[in-house]
Amino acid sequence: MRNIIIVIAALMLNSTFVLASDKPLTSPDKVAAGEKLFATNCSTCHGPQGKGDGPAAMAFNPKPRNLQTEPFKGGTEDAKIFATISNGLTGSNMPGFAQLNETDRWNLAFFVKLLRKN
Ligand code: HEC
Repeated sequence: MRNIIIVIAALMLNSTFVLASDKPLTSPDKVAAGEKLFATNCSTCHGPQGKGDGPAAMAFNPKPRNLQTEPFKGGTEDAKIFATISNGLTGSNMPGFAQLNETDRWNLAFFVKLLRKN
């Protein structure tokens, strides 16, 4: 009986671990990393706070999204935002950022989520 419990506990620990690696974990490090990446890659169009008011914004129609308030065509779940950042939006001026590594793209997705909450 005791062995069975240990095996089940080990399996649960293992599955928690797998789940955790699928999603970005919340931490000040990730916020700081996401913010920095956003300033470098996104703010020219979306503005420093993601309000869609970057210096290049007026060149686009439709305008870069106000990431704080406007709805997302591609969805607002973590994985959807990650996909939009990775691939861009088809037929749009929102570029894909496949050149950034996966961790960077997750940190950006996480930062975009945070912008929407604030
Ligand atoms: C060249 C300008 C430009 C850059 C740089 C840019 N975007 Fe965008 N982004 C846009 C435009 C334009 C739209 C609106 C597209 C539309 O409505 O078709 C958009 C839309 C979006 C959306 C909403 C997508 C949706 O589902 O509706 C997200 C999220 C987003 N951008 C995130 C980012 C992030 C994060 C970065 C940096 C990694 C970034 N963008 C860099 C121009 C840009």
